[in-house]
Amino acid sequence: MSSPALSGAVAHHPWWESGVIYQVYPRSFQDSDGDGIGDLAGVLARLDYIAALGVDAIWLSPVFPSPMADFGYDVADYCGIDPMFGDLAAFDSLLAAAHARGLKLILDFVPNHSSDQHPWFLASRSSRDDPKRDWYIWRDPAPGGGPPNNWISDFGGSAWEWDARTGQYYLHAFLKEQPDLNWRNPALRDAMMDVLRFWMDRGVDGFRIDVLWHIVKAEGLPDNPPNPHWTPAQTERDKLIQRYSTDQPEAHAIAADMRALADGYGERVLIGEIFLPNDRHARWYGAPDRPQVHLPFNFQLIENDWNAATLNRIIADYEASLPPFGWPNWVIGSHDAPRISARIGEAQARVAAMLLLTLRGTPTLYQGDEIGIGPVDIPPDRIRDPQHWRQPTLDIGRDRSRTPMPWDASANAGFTTGKPWLPLNADWPVRNVDAQLADPVSMLALYRALIALRRVTRALAIGGIAIAVGDSDVLAYERWHDDDRLLIALNLCAEPRQLLLPVGVRIAEVLASTLPSHPMDGTLHGDGGLVLRLERDD
Ligand code: NOJ
Repeated sequence: MSSPALSGAVAHHPWWESGVIYQVYPRSFQDSDGDGIGDLAGVLARLDYIAALGVDAIWLSPVFPSPMADFGYDVADYCGIDPMFGDLAAFDSLLAAAHARGLKLILDFVPNHSSDQHPWFLASRSSRDDPKRDWYIWRDPAPGGGPPNNWISDFGGSAWEWDARTGQYYLHAFLKEQPDLNWRNPALRDAMMDVLRFWMDRGVDGFRIDVLWHIVKAEGLPDNPPNPHWTPAQTERDKLIQRYSTDQPEAHAIAADMRALADGYGERVLIGEIFLPNDRHARWYGAPDRPQVHLPFNFQLIENDWNAATLNRIIADYEASLPPFGWPNWVIGSHDAPRISARIGEAQARVAAMLLLTLRGTPTLYQGDEIGIGPVDIPPDRIRDPQHWRQPTLDIGRDRSRTPMPWDASANAGFTTGKPWLPLNADWPVRNVDAQLADPVSMLALYRALIALRRVTRALAIGGIAIAVGDSDVLAYERWHDDDRLLIALNLCAEPRQLLLPVGVRIAEVLASTLPSHPMDGTLHGDGGLVLRLERDD
């Protein structure tokens, strides 16, 4: 669990190890031109807010030209900016302004699929003889007719779309408007590597790589086996085990090539979006002499039940699964996941903030979670998420996590002068950034305090970790660096629990608390979380 090699003995820790990443979903951050949709000038106008939050890097969800069938994850030009968001000059201004504030800027790279409106796909579907035909995955119908195999799209329905003009099907792991690219084609591969060069030459500090484990499919495209454990509460995609459509060895080789390219530019970071069990997840770090991504995103805090026993187990298992050189990371929210405050309630969301910012490994937090946006009701006529309206009976709507940032109590919460593309959180007149900046015990104040503490406390930023003994419902762990020793104790329930200190130590200092005040009376108050500095009791 605690790796001495990673807990302080290594002299140099790159920024992405000790830093905190903040995800900006640009459509919903700040609108500058009144169209109801956020844009780059809006992000620029709010950069001081992000800098004051104390984070080190911004990950910007896609801003490239796109028909927006999947809100930018359907890219029609990998080297441009959609006019809805601005232009390349606006991007350069944002990048320069971020760097001037000491903030890194990470872009979203979407390698598995393009938009069906990308010129590459338009050429590819124009004829079977087009030089770009093989840049996508085209197949004849199955011998008896119908799709070439049984693969199911992540958004439901067959993963194959019939193209009447050229008489073949093309593969799409997501929407039919998002045809899968063929990474087995060397020319496509070169073109995509050029995309990475294009942005790194411009100065971006790294990429979050969309569905990285999807990018290569097994030779021959065999049927995926059925999932014997599927229940109707799961998505249609989960009816099959994605054995042949994801996580292929050739994809690891490509990740290693991407890493070699990024390393040639100095300290850039590659973050892979990867959903896999620990053993297969850890393989995406690669090997010391042929590394792959720096951070395979770890979504376990999102995917698992919120109780002390489960958290204890996932932290221990994840730490144990890491290769010796692999740096951990934790994510608590995203534009795809339910809001943490909606999932576990606001009191526990404060505990979650403390957990995220005191675990070993790079934390990624999602815009709006720092002010505790909770459940948002999306009326049926305002649903925009294609995943939701394709599978309406499932509780998977992503719009509720994409609602605009409420900045203040003015019209439309200061997000736009037009009509916001999605509704605001209903409590925006009181739950907004301005209100929370003025409140010393707000969620925002807690986030800022925890991020600031992490910045000045090596034990938190780069130190070792070991799970400690806790009462039931309490998750407790120690962090340390050199002589500095901390105990983090988190009460996962609303009733008081005993605060257990390790043998032979006493509390030297309370560094942070999730509650406005927390007397040191031997109990850990309901929903209480504490960061304590320990000293030897002698
Ligand atoms: C993951 C992205 O986060 C999600 O928003 C998108 O729909 C899919 N990948 C497809 O690109």
